[in-house]
Amino acid sequence: MKLLLATHNEHKRRELERLLAGSGWQVDGLPEHVRMGPEDAETFAENALGKARAAAQATGRLSIADDSGIAAAALGGAPGVRSARYAGEQASDRENLEKLMREVPAGSALEYVCVIAMVDPRDGSELLFDGRCAGRMAAQERGEGGFGYDPVFVAEDAPGELTMAELSARQKDEISHRGRAARELRAWLEQSAATAG
Ligand code: IMP
Repeated sequence: MKLLLATHNEHKRRELERLLAGSGWQVDGLPEHVRMGPEDAETFAENALGKARAAAQATGRLSIADDSGIAAAALGGAPGVRSARYAGEQASDRENLEKLMREVPAGSALEYVCVIAMVDPRDGSELLFDGRCAGRMAAQERGEGGFGYDPVFVAEDAPGELTMAELSARQKDEISHRGRAARELRAWLEQSAATAG
């Protein structure tokens, strides 16, 4: 059985395939010619649904898409859906991270959020799976792993005071927002495969 992931990012496709390994589902990336619209909605769910709907419509296949970001309590939940362009439209991960370090005090609450939307074009059904990971702002950046805001994110469930960037990929998957949302999706896929016989 196959799913289409609405992304041209091979890293994201492989990551989801790893999280669904052994479930009997294979993950294809988006065909080259299919273009996605801008991710400019006000919620993670709307952004994810927009991409999954576009992919399902363009290909006629069962499609999923994700949207994720970080919310800082000290900023009233910002940057949220604007996490990728927090320091400007073309901002790099490094510029976004430095802006967060300037604006958010060490020790204050952070949360990673991930929403995966699934759209089945055969019957028009739409489902959402979400995952959250609570944490705190580190006093300084640490670690080489992960990406984005990981060097300053100390998850509540992390061993010791390690940042996400100091965890192995497997350790991060176990507690991350994306790992949690993907396990919700996986449980649903396994259930639906069992029901289909
Ligand atoms: P998108 O889901 O690809 O739109 O990514 C949103 C942005 O949120 C990324 O560019 C990162 O800045 C941030 N982000 C999402 N998930 C993570 C994560 O696991 N670690 C660090 N940053 C993340």
